[in-house]
Amino acid sequence: MARSSLTLQLLLLVACCFVAGASAARPSPSSKDAGDGASSFVRTWCAGTEYPALCDVTLAPYAETVGTSPARLAWAALTVTLGGARNASSAMRSMAARGHLSPVAAEAAGDCVSMLGDGVDALRRSVDAMARVGEQEGRRVEARKVRFEVDNVRTWASAALTDDNMCMEGFKGEAAGGGGAREAVRGHVMGLVHLTANALGIVNAMSKQTPP
Ligand SMILES: *[C@@H]1O[C@H](CO)[C@@H](O)[C@H](O)[C@H]1NC(C)=O
Repeated sequence: MARSSLTLQLLLLVACCFVAGASAARPSPSSKDAGDGASSFVRTWCAGTEYPALCDVTLAPYAETVGTSPARLAWAALTVTLGGARNASSAMRSMAARGHLSPVAAEAAGDCVSMLGDGVDALRRSVDAMARVGEQEGRRVEARKVRFEVDNVRTWASAALTDDNMCMEGFKGEAAGGGGAREAVRGHVMGLVHLTANALGIVNAMSKQTPP
């Protein structure tokens, strides 16, 4: 009994020093390299994604906001992805509206617009949910609530990824995809697929750290 309490005290001491060391190592706002710790946090997590270079470039501007919080990193990745989804959605809407498409391509473009719209909704919900998780960080909240939000975000983000891919699938055949339509659609949507895959990867990695 006495022994295990000593072990506990030692553990607490070590944990305490580790935390103190970590916060001491964090750069002060006045330092010229402010945010270095934060940007290496972003790079470390990005290294585990499918498209690390894209992850670095798109999330570097959020390094300060993210700090060393996985929830805020996931929020940032989802926010960037939501921006990409809105862009892709409006690009496809104007492609569909231009009216020079074959009937098959016009139908595929209409399907795309509606699927990308669903994706935008799913990502918006995901951003909101991850913002709630980020706000609750450091407070005593029920782990069950965090688990619930994170599981929902995983579901929504993977549904968005499916929507993006299905949009491009619609232009695979020659009837819809011929005459440059396939390439145009890929140009509008492929970047979004990569952003979504990265965001989902970060959420999945974060989920592994979330207590069940
Ligand atoms: C969406 O479009 C805006 C305006 O063109 C651009 O600034 C932004 O970087 C785009 N977002 C993404 C994620 O591609």
